Parts: sequence; structure tokens; C-alpha cells
Amino acid sequence: MTQEELFKKLIAHCKEYGFIFPSSEIYDGLGAVYDYGQNGVELKNNIKRYWWDSMVKLNENIVGIDAAIFMHPRVWEASGHVGAFNDPLIDNKDSKKRYRADVLVEDWLAKQEEKIAKEVEKARKRFKENFNEEQYLATSPRVLEIKAKMEEVHSRFSEALNANNLEELKQIILDCEIVCPISGTRNWTDVRQFNLMFSTQMGSTADGANTVYLRPETAQGIFVNYLNVQKTGRMKLPFGIAQIGKAFRNEIVARQFIFRMREFEQMEMQFFVQPGTEMEWWNKWKNIRMAWHRALGFGDDNYRFHDHDKLAHYANAATDVEYNFPFGFKEVEGIHSRTDFDLGRHQEFSGKKIQYFDAERGESYVPYVVETSIGVDRMFLQIMSAAYCEEKLENGEERVVLRIPAALAPTKVAVMPLVKKDGLPEVARKIIDELKYDYNVAYDEKDSIGKRYRRQDAVGTPLCVTVDHQSLEDGTVTVRHRDSMQQERIKIEALRAMVDEEVSFRRLFQTIKEA
Ligand code: GAP
Repeated sequence: MTQEELFKKLIAHCKEYGFIFPSSEIYDGLGAVYDYGQNGVELKNNIKRYWWDSMVKLNENIVGIDAAIFMHPRVWEASGHVGAFNDPLIDNKDSKKRYRADVLVEDWLAKQEEKIAKEVEKARKRFKENFNEEQYLATSPRVLEIKAKMEEVHSRFSEALNANNLEELKQIILDCEIVCPISGTRNWTDVRQFNLMFSTQMGSTADGANTVYLRPETAQGIFVNYLNVQKTGRMKLPFGIAQIGKAFRNEIVARQFIFRMREFEQMEMQFFVQPGTEMEWWNKWKNIRMAWHRALGFGDDNYRFHDHDKLAHYANAATDVEYNFPFGFKEVEGIHSRTDFDLGRHQEFSGKKIQYFDAERGESYVPYVVETSIGVDRMFLQIMSAAYCEEKLENGEERVVLRIPAALAPTKVAVMPLVKKDGLPEVARKIIDELKYDYNVAYDEKDSIGKRYRRQDAVGTPLCVTVDHQSLEDGTVTVRHRDSMQQERIKIEALRAMVDEEVSFRRLFQTIKEA
């Protein structure tokens, strides 16, 4: 199965099992807007909890807020979003399709990497056990030719982005002979800038309506509350403010399911530090965040850092945590050193002093900021891509299993009476009553046990508990583990401790190991 086929199956699975539905589906959907179903919302809430608790609960110097989506329009002038929150877009005149010019070039660069990987695989087959990959990469004329071209394009691309040179961006697309995937032609328009903010009107026209924006990032809600939180919480530098909330961007090209949406959710933390210490903190947060991702157990090699070619208007250093999605390594989270840009600009635009009095240094200054910013939906897609697994079983049957980390699974335990009579449902209900205040538990009595296991595998339930006639005699039940499919017989009284051990957030937090 190709990665593309796998991705299509994953999207179908998300719909079939109540994870994600297209928005307003009965009206044929709305571009790049999605709804979360009964299982999706549980997974999403668990992702948010994993993030929130690891920030706010496990760090004494980080607190949370929940700011409004609407903000004063001047906020977005001060932040630079009105003037500079643009994407470079290009249209193909034949297909009439619109693309992000920078993404076309990035995709071209990724394709060159794939070409190199293919050359390596061919050589590996040819030279068999004598193959030395390092030597091959350093000497193969074909590989060296591809690499040289990539380096040339990459450096032109970075320069063009940083200088906002739209003509050069178009020239790179022409020079790389990039074609429209729909029409297959190179009949491109010029590259233009396109502002990504959605706007609407607040108040009635008679009152003199104001244009307000739907926030394109949650971060500004934190910056404008910096003084409120610092003063009321008596916070001392370094300290952080965390927030989870909706953000909106009128993405030109919304693609890859929930990877790029027009309405999405962000989990952002702004960490305020002494000027001059921001690089140290940026490196620290890179480590902390990478460890948070890796603790989910999807394989360390599937994550990497990717430094930005073009720094956002507010940053002096920025990197992405990328995950190896079925469509290649792509950004899941950004870690940005935002300097004193935002607080400084809000100080200037609002006329209010936004500073920190540093008692040790005996001076006041505008703090510097290191930001960690991750999309909930993108994290959701990352987890689903990593967890989705089709397996052939020893008995020849097939199963689809979602290997979602147990603490994040929508349902933790499914309790199943073997038959719907003889008092077995009553015992099952009692077990549920014992667990339901702490965990999401499902009751399932329909179909054969095998079919019930398959249903729970498909939504990622880590534990299935079967109540049978022996349970009535000796008070034991069968526990079946999702990933290994191993079964064991345990006492009903021991069930609670076992569930705690297997699926608790505590256990997940304890696996986070910083490098
Ligand atoms: N405050 C900084 C900021 O917003 P960003 O790199 O533009 O930085 C941060 O966005 C994260 O938000 C990304 O790493 C991604 O996970 C998520 N994100 C951004 N745009 C998105 C979109 N259109 N759909 C889904 N997630 C998105």
C-alpha cells in the first residue's frame, strides 16, 4: 500500500468511526472546515489535557488563561498581522487552481530528497551486502548533481522569501520546471501577496460598525494580558502563560485533510525571559517540546527539527518540530524566539507601559519571549497517522487497530458480558460503575466477542474486559490488551489498579525524558 492510499484509508476511517466529519456535510461540506465526532472529541480533549497539564500543572512558573477570540482591531495593527500576515500565492492559468508559491518550491525540494532516497535504494539492491550508504551519498555523480541543484534552489528560495522578492519566487518556479498537478502546465500568473485574516463587523452599521478580525493566532491574547497576569499572579521572570483556543486563517490552499484548516485550535505558551537569555531558553524549550512528542512512543526517528528559511516578522530564531506524516516530514509545532517585538509594539500602540521591574538588576525592561505553538488538529492528525495500523493475524483474519497512546485513547476500557443473560450484564455494569468516574468506559453486548474486539481495536480502546460465567463463580474477568492481543485472567477487585497503571496520564507524564 502506498503512503497516499494509506492516507486515504485513514481519512475514511476517521469518518466511519466517528472521529472527524466534514463540516455541514449534508450541504456538501465547507472547504477546510471539519467537525469532530463522538470519538474525535474525546481524543482531542485528551491531547489538550496532555499539553495543558504538562505546561500548567507540571511547571510552577506557568499559568493559563482563556482570552476572547475577538480583540481590539489595533491589536492586529500592532502585531504586524494587518501589514505582514501574508502568503505568496500563484495561479495556474489553465487549471485556474491557486497555490502557495512557497509550498510549490518546498514540495519540489522534498521531491529531490525522494529522488536521492530512490537512488540509494537502487544502489543498495545492486551492491547488496557491500553497500556503503555514506560513501555512496558522498560519491555518486547522480546524487551529487541532485544535491547541488537543491542547494542552489534552496539558497535562492531563502533569499527570495526574506527579501519578499515575488518575481524571484516565480522565476524559481519556472527554473525548476514546476508544473500544476491538475493541468500539468507551467502557465503561471505572477506571485501576489494574500492576507490570511478573516474579518467581520462588530456593532450595527447605524452605530458605526467596526471591522474586527477573527484571531489568526492565540498568542496576542496572551501578550495583551501580560501585565494583568504578571501583576495579579505576582509572577517573576522567567514565567509562562499558556492558552488553548480557536484560531482562524483564510488559507489559500487548504490541503491534506485537517493538516491545514481555516478554523483550527492552537495550544500556545509564551515564556517571558530576561533580554539576552532568550537563546538559552529557546534551546531549552526545543528540548522540552521534543521530549513531549517522543514520549508518545511513535519512534524518535519520526521527528526532526527544521529551522525556518524565512523568519516571521517577529522572530530572531525559529524552528519547527516536524513529524514524518504519510505525505512526508511536515510541521507539527513551532518554537519561536519572538524577542520583545510583540510587547514592545503593544506598548507603542496602546501608550501603556508594558514592562517588568527586575528587582535584582534594579531596572525595568520589556521582557523577551520564547513561544511554543502547536495546533491541536495537526497533533490529532499526527497521532492518527502514527496510530493507524492494518494487521494480518495468525488465523488469517485482518484487523485495523489504532495504537493510540493509552492515556489519550477516546475510550479506556470496554466491558463486555459474554452473553446478555444469567446475571453477566449486571456484573459488567458494576465494573463500569467502579471505573466511570475516572475513565471513559464503554459497555458492549452485541455480536460475538471477536467482533466486539475488532470494533474496539478500530477506535483504539486499550483494554477489553470480558465477564463470563466463571466470573460469577470466582469473581475474575478476562482482560484483553489491544496491542499484543494477550489475554489474562484477573480478579475484579484488581481491575481498578490495573487500569490506573495502564492508561493513566501519570504514567505518560513519567515517560517524558528530556535529552
Ligand atoms: N503564534 C505563532 C503561530 O501561530 P504558526 O507556525 O503560524 O505560529 C503554529 O502556527 C502551529 O499552529 C503550527 O505549527 C500548526 O501546528 C498550527 N497551525 C497553523 N496553521 C494551521 C492551519 N491552517 N490548520 C491547522 N493547524 C495550523
